[in-house]
Amino acid sequence: MGLLDFLYSQLMFTPTYPTSSCEGQTIIVTGSNSGLGKEAARHFARLGSSKIILAVRDIKAGDAAKQDIETTTKCNPAILEVWPLDLASYKSVRVFASRASQLPRIDTLVSNAGISTNKWELIQGYECTIAINVISTFYLAMLMLSKLKSSAKEFGIQTHITVVSSEREDNTFEALNIQSTGTFPERYPTSKLLEVLVVRQVAPHLEGSGVILNVLSPGLCHSALAREGNRFLTIMKFLFARTSEMGSRTLVSAATAGPESNGRYVHNGKVDDAALSSFVVSEDGEKASQKVWKELETILESIQPGITESL
Ligand SMILES: NC(=O)c1ccc[n+]([C@@H]2O[C@H](COP(=O)([O-])OP(=O)(O)OC[C@H]3O[C@@H](n4cnc5c(N)ncnc54)[C@H](OP(=O)(O)O)[C@@H]3O)[C@@H](O)[C@H]2O)c1
Repeated sequence: MGLLDFLYSQLMFTPTYPTSSCEGQTIIVTGSNSGLGKEAARHFARLGSSKIILAVRDIKAGDAAKQDIETTTKCNPAILEVWPLDLASYKSVRVFASRASQLPRIDTLVSNAGISTNKWELIQGYECTIAINVISTFYLAMLMLSKLKSSAKEFGIQTHITVVSSEREDNTFEALNIQSTGTFPERYPTSKLLEVLVVRQVAPHLEGSGVILNVLSPGLCHSALAREGNRFLTIMKFLFARTSEMGSRTLVSAATAGPESNGRYVHNGKVDDAALSSFVVSEDGEKASQKVWKELETILESIQPGITESL
């Protein structure tokens, strides 16, 4: 996305306030104790969802978010549940998915949790930004697939996996070398680029399965994401950022979009692959996408053999 498009989007465009009913639906939002995830969960509560799972790594923070959502929406407190999920632990991801598979139905998984950090840390052998934003995000998605497929079949509905990515995905091919010693500021946007590339490879496998997999950009929003401090981002946010509530509308739009959104990029609430970087839609981008998915598939299979058969 060019600078002018970015400025137009941030300053002139207001994402549509969500109004589609979510009656009867069960929705999981990861990282919903704060920021965009919490505001999306608030919308889902207001829109009449039957159950919303706040999937969080800090139960106390999750309970506070639940309380806040209940107070502001006056929803039935029984619809909101706080479940532990730490994407830094494959075991936690497995336990969460196994518990979720016991739910009567799941309509939507909003894969929102993510980090942006300046620290160098390895999680289960991988740099933490890539481990959390990419590997565990898609590990959870793979584990949830059969439930989403069976819910779609049993209830005659379209179910969703919606991945919250970003617009800053204009990386070079070299930046994709996740084993390189790329600079810290590259890791977060690279992780978001990887999400887009993986969705583009995986979604075609889901055609006709009843599950829609899409990826979205919420725009630049105020939230706790850059909590470790980044002067450039702080200034950008001061000048241009949307509120978390405003940005969360785009999560709801993607999570309620039709089958035409499968494998596609939802930007400002609309399916819009034209908003992707020229790299992503180029021949090199397609090659990179295939390569990245192949690598991730191998990693996921090493975590749990047979996991990608759920596709
Ligand atoms: N804000 C923006 O401008 C912007 C732009 C583009 C994309 N995004 C994306 O939007 C999503 C939400 O971010 P946000 O801006 O709302 O920031 P945020 O307020 O920091 O929310 C991130 C959420 O992810 C959770 N999380 C982090 N690590 C986790 C882990 N290991 N396991 C489970 N949950 C974990 C956080 O939990 P804790 O509170 O416990 O840390 C928090 O609830 C992210 O994927 C981000 O990349 C944001």
